[in-house]
Amino acid sequence: MLIERFDTDEVLASTLATRLIDAISLNPRLVLGLPTGRTPVALYRELRWHSQRGHLDWSHVRTFNLDEFVGLGAGDPGSYRSYMQAALFDHVRMTPEQIGMLDGRAPNLVAECARYERAIAQAGGIDLQILGIGANGHIGFNEPGDTLEAETHVAELRAETRRANAGWFGGDTTQVPSHALSMGIATILRGREIVLMATGAGKQDAVAGLVNGQLTPRLPASFLQLHPRVTAMLDRGAAQRLA
Ligand code: GLP
Repeated sequence: MLIERFDTDEVLASTLATRLIDAISLNPRLVLGLPTGRTPVALYRELRWHSQRGHLDWSHVRTFNLDEFVGLGAGDPGSYRSYMQAALFDHVRMTPEQIGMLDGRAPNLVAECARYERAIAQAGGIDLQILGIGANGHIGFNEPGDTLEAETHVAELRAETRRANAGWFGGDTTQVPSHALSMGIATILRGREIVLMATGAGKQDAVAGLVNGQLTPRLPASFLQLHPRVTAMLDRGAAQRLA
């Protein structure tokens, strides 16, 4: 795993944005896996800035988001769909067909997960998967536990994850849905290249486990050690337990 350290999360975000611009100009049909959460907010700001100035041509790019809350969709302010529209999709030239998102309001959630796996495969697979990480070591909504799910699935959220997401729901943890749809660990590991972003001291234990820990479903991100092309982009806070 390649470890990169940055003085601030702004420098981290602008560096990754520049790499994405390069990757898209090299391969205009890039298939991107995208995260939500606080960590990538600065990345999406950078991408909007560059897109408005014509530095990025989104017209052939495909995107697939990692996860979505069950019961939420477009029009729900707490949904990841709303987050992505505001952070990126409303600001770039992309058609709905280019944007892959799980539908948290699908009547049959199991069928929705299977549809998503098929859509990713039909797009040729994910070229570059960008990830955040939960303080408990989750990626997407693959939560710590005795076992992990390989494919896209319905996940029950842990209490700490619902608390961590409360900021998107007016600070009220009870408003955070109890379940989500998420790419599985194998879905994520099928990405040809993975870039994980982590910022802030709250992520230092998860990052230490990701980089130096044993492979364990108790820290789902540790499974990224199995992948040959992973870069962890860290700010000082997140990197402080690494030598
Ligand atoms: C959330 C999301 C993850 C995200 C992680 C970290 O619950 N499901 O995809 O990477 O937790 O979020 P944040 O960046 O807000 O710390």
